[in-house]
Amino acid sequence: MSVHGAARPITVPDLRRMKGTPQVWLTAYTTPIAQRLDEHCDALLVGDSLGMVLYGLPSTLSVSLDTMIAHGAAVVRGAKHACIVVDLPFGSYQQSPRQAFASAARVLAETGAAAVKLEGGREMAETIAFLTSRGIPVCGHVGLMPQSVNVAGGFRATGRTQDEAAKVSADAQAVADAGAFAVVLEGTLEPVAAAITRQVAIPTIGIGASAECDGQVLVVDDVLGMFNDFQPRFVKRYAALGDEISKAAAAYAADVRARRFPEERHVFRKTAR
Ligand code: KIV
Repeated sequence: MSVHGAARPITVPDLRRMKGTPQVWLTAYTTPIAQRLDEHCDALLVGDSLGMVLYGLPSTLSVSLDTMIAHGAAVVRGAKHACIVVDLPFGSYQQSPRQAFASAARVLAETGAAAVKLEGGREMAETIAFLTSRGIPVCGHVGLMPQSVNVAGGFRATGRTQDEAAKVSADAQAVADAGAFAVVLEGTLEPVAAAITRQVAIPTIGIGASAECDGQVLVVDDVLGMFNDFQPRFVKRYAALGDEISKAAAAYAADVRARRFPEERHVFRKTAR
């Protein structure tokens, strides 16, 4: 099911009903990028990856709730069509369901987004049930969980052993049973992602989790080719904007140094009387 071209924005129940159809998610962090992506996407995720992508941080751990709210509101202002989902950052929800509710309620009230996403499986089931039963739609996130980088000891795909496969599968099931409307499966081996997608009644949204998932999400700056130094295996680059930006900056610098810019047509000449 798709509501592309429809006058109304895509809602959380629309996404939930899209189990089995390939839903398109991308991250977005700013108004102009949201405006560009909106008509092509079913959901825009204001991911806490913005800490690394926009702010040059080494991990997502120090991203604050206020930062997520500022970027969430910016993306909502740029979107008319896609469903907007905002990440709850590290430390804003793990302490208790009540803490999660307070954070998520701020996100929805102050951004106008439709839903929040949070990382965690069975240990977050109670929190997800608490939020969804109180009017806050939740997208789960299991498999590789960047906010747990210090426990996991790094960013590594999961599902390689039977124990890992059983864990990620039980986590996805717990998230679905708790009332999440979708679950992001990150860095998960294909057969495990395929089994989970068959097993759970909600859409699975994969990132580094194969085409077996119901939908896909990628970090938009990776898709646009903003970085030359790091290209994860699961990313497909659809543009080379990083190189374009460097070329544009070099051309501008050369023009300014050679006094070729500003040109006649860029100059205000007439004085007002
Ligand atoms: O923060 C983020 O951008 C995410 C995606 C990578 C799924 O959680």
